Amino acid sequence: MPDADGIKDAKMFYCDMQQKTQGFFLKGSNSLDWGMKNRLARIFNPVSGRTVMLAIDHGYFQGPTTGLERVDINILPLVPYADTLMLTRGILRSVIPPSTSQAIVLRVSGGASILKELSNEDIAVDIEDSIRLNVCAMAVQVFIGGEFERQSIINMTKMVDIGNRYGIPTLAVTAVGKDMARDAKYFRLACRICAELGAHYIKTYYIDEGFETVTASCPVPIVMAGGKKIPELDALTMAYNAVQRGAAGVDMGRNIFQSAAPIAMIQAVRAVVHDNETPAKAFDLYNTLNNKSRV
Ligand code: R5P
Repeated sequence: MPDADGIKDAKMFYCDMQQKTQGFFLKGSNSLDWGMKNRLARIFNPVSGRTVMLAIDHGYFQGPTTGLERVDINILPLVPYADTLMLTRGILRSVIPPSTSQAIVLRVSGGASILKELSNEDIAVDIEDSIRLNVCAMAVQVFIGGEFERQSIINMTKMVDIGNRYGIPTLAVTAVGKDMARDAKYFRLACRICAELGAHYIKTYYIDEGFETVTASCPVPIVMAGGKKIPELDALTMAYNAVQRGAAGVDMGRNIFQSAAPIAMIQAVRAVVHDNETPAKAFDLYNTLNNKSRV
């Protein structure tokens, strides 16, 4: 109990100054509760409004992917440069030090492998484990147009409901079947469905034609998926175009950890995402950092 004797008269009321009500910096997120916003503010930098997520969750359906064979050796040195790590609870518990301050986005859907139909996923992590692991968001794959479309959408809506109960956002990851057209019409459909059904933010692929219509018609933030490995300058150009055309950052995996110089690459991606650096200047930075590391 505080000592009740000798309490001074309260005087600092600043009656001439109204208390400010601040809007939340992220698109479509102003009506969320405090805990949800606080977690999103750990994923997205409140100054730039963007994030560099490092995706290393590939093993959950395709095993030890090139570059992820030894997360302890190849990925831990990249962690300080990421705003957020997107990964499975297995890798989180077994390899990532609990002292890591980066926001964690936990992969919570699963159940399919590259040997079978990938859209046949279920919810694979209990909400209690997400809470126990102190995650900032939960990622669920959504297969619009896929064989198990309905099931994957319901996986997402269930996570949204459970996450809303505890203040943990849900990231919907739009997965595109091999034989489906990757165009603006498809991504507008996929992203809008996820947002309408409650996803707090969405990961989707960049397309040259009409990406700005995908971001404009999605009422919540979109982060750009990296996709298969392409040359560094092309990957930086893709990230630049995505953020300039409305993405709130990137969630990149292979184009960072399969780069010839992953530490230089993630810093170059940061320059594009947080500082609006041009692809050419970011590529210069990549080369400079890469050369320095060789000396
Ligand atoms: C795919 O949809 C998963 O989320 C991936 O495992 C991962 O996030 C993809 O990252 P990237 O395509 O940039 O390697």
